[in-house]
Amino acid sequence: MTTRDDRSKRAERLVLLGGRGQAVAAGVVWLVGAGPGDPELLTLKALAVLRSADVVVHDGLVSDEILDLAPVTARRISVAKRKSRHSHSQDEINRMLTAFALEGLTVVRLKGGDPFIFGRGGEELEACREVGVECRVVPGVTAAFAAGASAGAPLTHRGSAQAVTFVTGHAAQGGEPDLHWESLARANHTVVIYMGLSMATLIAARLMAAGRAGSTPALIVENASRADERRVTTTLAGLAEAAAGLKGPAILIVGEAMALAQASLLSETDGLRAHA
Ligand SMILES: C[S@@+](CC[C@H](N)C(=O)[O-])C[C@H]1O[C@@H](n2cnc3c(N)ncnc32)[C@H](O)[C@@H]1O
Repeated sequence: MTTRDDRSKRAERLVLLGGRGQAVAAGVVWLVGAGPGDPELLTLKALAVLRSADVVVHDGLVSDEILDLAPVTARRISVAKRKSRHSHSQDEINRMLTAFALEGLTVVRLKGGDPFIFGRGGEELEACREVGVECRVVPGVTAAFAAGASAGAPLTHRGSAQAVTFVTGHAAQGGEPDLHWESLARANHTVVIYMGLSMATLIAARLMAAGRAGSTPALIVENASRADERRVTTTLAGLAEAAAGLKGPAILIVGEAMALAQASLLSETDGLRAHA
């Protein structure tokens, strides 16, 4: 909802532009969910918005096949996290998005999965609001949905999964996440862990210490919906061992309903996934 404050900031910006005697139309920032990787999981709205982009600012998790759907004339800027070279800080990304929009451009901030699920979309939205830039959001298929769908394992299921909770496996500054393990340890409750691969040992230990049975079915899906997707079925007690050989991105799912999950076939792990 546009507040009076937003409107007055926007008016202030228009006055500034008018002061230079230029008629510059207001730009816009679109926070667009690109889904988990398979381009066919992009929404029609995401595609339409992407096709209207002047600038595409994207994460590393967004595939080239999806980036290729933007106009050839659109400027593409990667803000992927890099281990060796300079990564853009969140402040730099916020400033970049708002600066382009203030120049009158249509900016598409393309994010893996959904922008509002562990995607820092909220921070970018707030940055736009602070300077009176219009910001719109297109939801995307989050990794958890793709993982459950590929494995044939529902995240909620009558009789064995009355609730589902999405958690992060990492605290914002790294280290152990601040989670209420007792709540997550309740039976018939699906727990989906994002960014949890390197914390699998600790997460499994915390859940079991809080009372979740070690025999609770678990699933790990690496590269969900992509050609190199890998699915491993295990139990909570076996989670750390199952996570050990994987590089990610991967999602960890613990819950009774994961008893329905199907692991990858050998041919699939060899990259020969048949397209259903
Ligand atoms: C910063 S979070 C972004 C989540 C994203 N906004 C979403 O809605 O899926 C990155 C984490 O999402 C998960 N993830 C993203 N894409 C994935 C995929 N294709 N397969 C499995 N996990 C994925 C992994 O846990 C990864 O560490």
